[in-house]
Amino acid sequence: MLKDKVAVIYGAGGAIGSAVARAFASAGAKLFLTGRHLAPVEVVAQDVVSAGGSAEAAEVDALDEQAVDKHLQSVIDKAGRVDISFDAVGIANTKILGVPLVELDVEQFSLPIATYSTSYFLTARLAARHMIPNRSGVIMTVTALHSRTGIPLVGGYGPAMAAKEALTRDLSAELAPHGIRVVGLRPQAMPETRTIKEAFEPRAKASGLTWEQWQESLASRTHARRLMTLEEMADMAVFMASDKASGMTGTTVNLTMGSLDD
Ligand SMILES: NC(=O)c1ccc[n+]([C@@H]2O[C@H](COP(=O)([O-])OP(=O)(O)OC[C@H]3O[C@@H](n4cnc5c(N)ncnc54)[C@H](OP(=O)(O)O)[C@@H]3O)[C@@H](O)[C@H]2O)c1
Repeated sequence: MLKDKVAVIYGAGGAIGSAVARAFASAGAKLFLTGRHLAPVEVVAQDVVSAGGSAEAAEVDALDEQAVDKHLQSVIDKAGRVDISFDAVGIANTKILGVPLVELDVEQFSLPIATYSTSYFLTARLAARHMIPNRSGVIMTVTALHSRTGIPLVGGYGPAMAAKEALTRDLSAELAPHGIRVVGLRPQAMPETRTIKEAFEPRAKASGLTWEQWQESLASRTHARRLMTLEEMADMAVFMASDKASGMTGTTVNLTMGSLDD
């Protein structure tokens, strides 16, 4: 579905970034994988290459405009264009969750809002500048159901996710006339990821639940009574990045399996 598409992934060493990278590679994309630290990104790139795919790793801080710009220029020099930009950057939940809003200091409140919206804005804006002349491209990111529903003890994470979804709509409104689609994915927590386990296992224990009981309680809110897997999320990313989704732009796909009504 993505044969010969040139894809850049930010935060590619993380749970979502690496799952999307592997799925994009299986679908035939040429990957340029980036992250704040090179080592985890290199592991993913080596896996992709060992499986017969095409991937290069680079250290790029997605909050550093010059670094993102320079890397994109190197992608253009090597591959001639960029077709897909996917921002999967994430900051540790343990740094931002767990404090009641009335006790939260401004810095901790602002951290997710600034990090998530700025990295998405920068990576999208710079990719778009290379996509506009080709009249083609897909800009993607990932959010969470906090964008649309009230959840306690999540600090600035909910406003950060809402900001990214608003930016998806606004980018699309400006870029779709140039042939560029902008779409987001909104999965529910996937407990197989280290990020979710690290943030929620201690909180489950504190409220007297085992890790398994916490997952069951989350799953019970879905229509399917189960949580989505990383593989299912990545398969949807492939579809949304592909020309088969040419009718989708300016929206975030609800992957919460019924937890969150549209
Ligand atoms: N996991 C889930 O179940 C889930 C569900 C819904 C939504 N989400 C959202 O999806 C996103 C990614 O989640 P995840 O579970 O994949 O997190 P993750 O495993 O922690 O991955 C995040 C990646 O982003 C990298 N990163 C952080 N800051 C960066 C920067 N400035 N520049 C470049 N790379 C940077 C991290 O690199 P370092 O580790 O080297 O800093 C890490 O590799 C987050 O927005 C999260 O809220 C996750």
